[in-house]
Parts: sequence; C-alpha cells; structure tokens
Amino acid sequence: MGMEAPVNPTTTSAWGQLDELAEVFVPDLRGWFESEPNRAQQWTRRVGDLHVDLSKNLITSDVLERLLELAQQCNVGERRDAMLRGEHINVTEDRAVLHTALRRAPDDVLEVDGVNVVKDVRAELKKIYAFADKVRAGKWLGASGKPLTTIVNVGIGGSDLGPVMAYEALKPYVQDGIECRFISNIDPTDAGETTKDLDPETTLIIVASKTFTTLETITNAKVVRQWLLSGLRERGIIAEGGSAESAGAAGELSAGTVSEREAISRHFVAVSTALDKVEEFGIDPANAFGFWNWVGGRYSVDSAVGTSLVVAIGPERFEEFLTGMRTVDQHFATAKPEDNVPLLMGLLNVWYGNFLGADTHAVLPYSQYLHRFPAYLQQLTMESNGKSVRYDGARVDYDTGEIFWGEPGTNGQHAFYQLIHQGTRMVPSDFIAFANPTWNLRDECAGENGADMHELFLSNFFAQTQALAFGKTAEEVRAEGTPEEIVPARIFGGNRPTTSIMAPSLTPSVLGQLIALYEHITFVQGAIWGIDSFDQWGVELGKVLARGLMPAITGDEDVLASVDSSTRALIEYYRAYRRD
Ligand code: F6P
Repeated sequence: MGMEAPVNPTTTSAWGQLDELAEVFVPDLRGWFESEPNRAQQWTRRVGDLHVDLSKNLITSDVLERLLELAQQCNVGERRDAMLRGEHINVTEDRAVLHTALRRAPDDVLEVDGVNVVKDVRAELKKIYAFADKVRAGKWLGASGKPLTTIVNVGIGGSDLGPVMAYEALKPYVQDGIECRFISNIDPTDAGETTKDLDPETTLIIVASKTFTTLETITNAKVVRQWLLSGLRERGIIAEGGSAESAGAAGELSAGTVSEREAISRHFVAVSTALDKVEEFGIDPANAFGFWNWVGGRYSVDSAVGTSLVVAIGPERFEEFLTGMRTVDQHFATAKPEDNVPLLMGLLNVWYGNFLGADTHAVLPYSQYLHRFPAYLQQLTMESNGKSVRYDGARVDYDTGEIFWGEPGTNGQHAFYQLIHQGTRMVPSDFIAFANPTWNLRDECAGENGADMHELFLSNFFAQTQALAFGKTAEEVRAEGTPEEIVPARIFGGNRPTTSIMAPSLTPSVLGQLIALYEHITFVQGAIWGIDSFDQWGVELGKVLARGLMPAITGDEDVLASVDSSTRALIEYYRAYRRD
C-alpha cells in the first residue's frame, strides 16, 4: 500500500520529554495570568470567523514546544498532506479519505486514481440543488398533486447525526413551511412517533445510507414505505389493488389514482454510494444521489447525506456551509504549526489524555441551536479514535481516544458541572458561544430597559471558564464568613482547563467551520497515535451477534440453548413478559 509504518509515539524523544514535564508539572492559571499580562493574547488564535482562546489551558511555552515536536516526530504534517492528496490513508479498508474534496472550490482539480473528484462532487451537488430547488418551490409534487413540505430523513450514525445536528443548528435559515424530521433508531418508537401526525400526501422521505445495507435504516425505510402506501391507499390516491408489480400499467388505474411505483417515485429519494441496492429497494435510480467510498459516514454531512439540509436551508446557504469548511481546511493545510488551531487543539487533547490523566472531554455549546453538536461529535471523535491497534496492526501501549460528551449551557451547569468544578477527575472542556443571538429577547420586568437575555446567557459562558480556571481559595471562602466546618466543601481548586471558542453568530459558514475544526482535531490525535481514524470495525461484532440471536428470540430452542446463561436468561425473561 506504500504507506509508511506508523511511529510508536512513546518512542519519540518529544514523548519522553513531555513525560518528564508532566511528572513535575504544577498548573497555576492564577499565577500564570498574573505574571503574563498578555497571556490571553498570546494564546488566542483565529481561524475563519472563530476566535479561539486557549489561554485557560494548562499549557506553557515549554509544553507547547514539546507538543509541536511530537507532532513533527509522528509525521502529522506528512499524514495530513497524504490525506489531502487522496492517498489511501484508511489502510484497513484501503481507501482514500477525502471529505475535504467535498468542499473544494468548484474549479479546483484533485485527481485521484486518474479522476478529477471535484468535478464529480460538483456534478452531484448540481443534481441535489436542482431537486432541492424544486421541492422548495413547491414544484415537486406528491402522488395527490400536493407539494411536499415535511422531509423525513431515514438514516443512522453519520447518515443521521450530521443532518439532524446541522438542521437543528441552522433552524433560523430553514425555509418557512418546510420541516425536517429524522428517524434513526430501530426502536419502533422512533418511526411510530415521527410519523404519527404526518400527512403522507405532503411527506418526502430521504433514505440515507452509505452502504444501503444498514439494518436499522433498511427496516425503517420499509416501515415508512408501508406507512406511506397504506395512507395513500386509504385516501384512494393509490389504485385499489395497485402494487409495485402492476405499477406502470397506467391504463389500469382509475382517474386520479397512481400506482405504488409512481407513489414511491414521488415520495422517496435515496442517498447512497450503492446505487444498485437503492434500485433493488424499489427507489427509482433517477431519484438517487450518490457519493463515494472515500467519504466516511461520520464525515459525510457535506456530501449527498446533507440533502435534507439542502432542502431545508437551500443551495445558497449550503454553499456557505461548504465555504466555511473550506476556510478551515485551508488553514489546517497551510497555517504555521504554532498558529494551526486544529493542530494545537488536537495536541492539547493528547497532552491531557496521555500525560495529565484526563479520560473525557466535554463540549459545552452556549447555544441551544447546537444541542445535537455533542452527540454529533461523539460519533466523529469516538468512532474515529476509539482504537487499540495502530494502522500497521501493532497494539498500542498508550491511551487513545478520550470520551467526548456534553450538553448545551446553561442546562449543563445545573446538572453535571459540579463534577467539572469540584470532582476528582480532570475534564478538559470546550466552551462555544456567539456574540449575537437569533432571538433578541429581553426580560422586561428587570429594571428600566429590561435585561438582555443573551447577555444573561453569556455572563454564564464567561463566568464558568473563569471559575474553572481560577477557582476559589480557602481564604476567599472564609472571608465570606463561611463557617469553618463547611469551608472545605466550598473551595474550588481551579486549574480546570478550558478552551473558549467565539464567533459573531451561528451562520451556515460558522457551523461549517466548527465541524471542519473538530474533524481535523480528530485527525491530529489519530495521527499522533498512529491509528486508522477512518475505519470502524468495532461496530461489527454486535451487529453480527444480534442477527444470530434473532432465532432464539422468536422461539428457536436449540439456538437459545446454545447461548451463554446470562443472555439466555434475558431472552427468557423477554419471552415470558412479551404480551403479543
Ligand atoms: O455501524 C456504524 C456505521 O457504519 C457508521 O460508521 C455509519 O455512519 C452508520 O453505521 C450508518 O451507515 P450507513 O450510512 O451505511 O447506513
């Protein structure tokens, strides 16, 4: 495959020096801010519209220097360039990793295996944009001749989390009269609840699946197809007895009715890399949008997987989203290491995880619109970097991907921040906020001009990182007249690391920038660890076992007898209590 063997990062001189630094490391954010009047400026970087303040991290120039050396000794730059060139850096699947090609400038040329992939990307986008424009203009009509106004995206993992996260984030940009919903879970509750108040006559279903074999998605797509067809049949829109097989025989249909096939072609589109399987499923290939196996599922929101988003916000806004991503790609590819934000943030994560003992990383957006962003990042980061072998198969003897989690502020403050402030574990946290609100609301009862709610909100954003960094000493607690016996409980240790990211407002471009930033942070960490951040073999075993257990669940005693005693007892419990 021509790929150089990965470096074991622990064998580099930089790793050894970082180990030594960590051993004697005494973080002192209070002291550092006092002795370095320019600390905020010195540790703040810009990328696109993002103002990234790293100053409240447990970082010194010494540590940074070693971390940058580590990146060099682990060939992070070379690996980044190999990715951007389209080399097969996804070694275990022998694939290129080219999500960045999805947002290259339209006239760029990127030849991979003799094909200009940018041209292919733009051709597909053109098809998606034409389709989206038609739906948005009310010209894509359903079986009964009505415009389609609710888009249901059926997909899971990368074929769900990207679209739903971005749709939620960009709600202010969604065209009036258009709504998107998302069905992902094979729990029948999801399809049931999502469709229960929907009108099939005005519903468009997008089945999104890279492989078009994912059990959840194919099952949900079939269930939604039944829901749609029976709804249309009940209303006499599909001819009585009309089936997919008899479809096309237009002469047999009565006036005002359509065949099943026709109904499906008006209400279903598909997004996949496996267009043959789309056709097998019964979706007209003319209604299918493709992408390529060099786009990983969790890196696919900017491919055809984002079709629901394009319909919701329109091609122009989607282009802005792509441009935002491109801005960060260019920065990652060209900025000097000491100014390269994804590189610095990835290295900080390595510093915390491998040298200072952090196991998790919180992402805390102070924006309700970003409420699905942590869930999206969980797949991006943990499916990418939750690996125990390097890409040459050698077992790692150091920790890899940390656990990402989070919730929007201020909700999290009243739930789990206690642990971040006073718990025994270090939780490096990214705080994200925007200078401008979408909803300019005031609390009119508070004082003469009322209180600006966004300012109340942001005061929390500013205060939290301050409290985490600088804490509150026993002396300060005592000075407030606190009874001695509860002084210890009220001390805040400080030195809890945070990164603050701000932007003017949450636009499509800024969302694109944030996504690309985290994609590249994830890349940097994987490159340091020498792992393949682009495969996901760890999700396979459970899928295979679930399939194998189905006969035991539905009554095959021999299969039931062959399973372990715990699983057997659980299935027996299910069989005893399931009512119908
Ligand atoms: O099982 C994990 C996974 O393969 C993810 O990587 C992917 O995003 C998801 O399933 C859905 O896959 P598909 O788009 O092929 O249905």
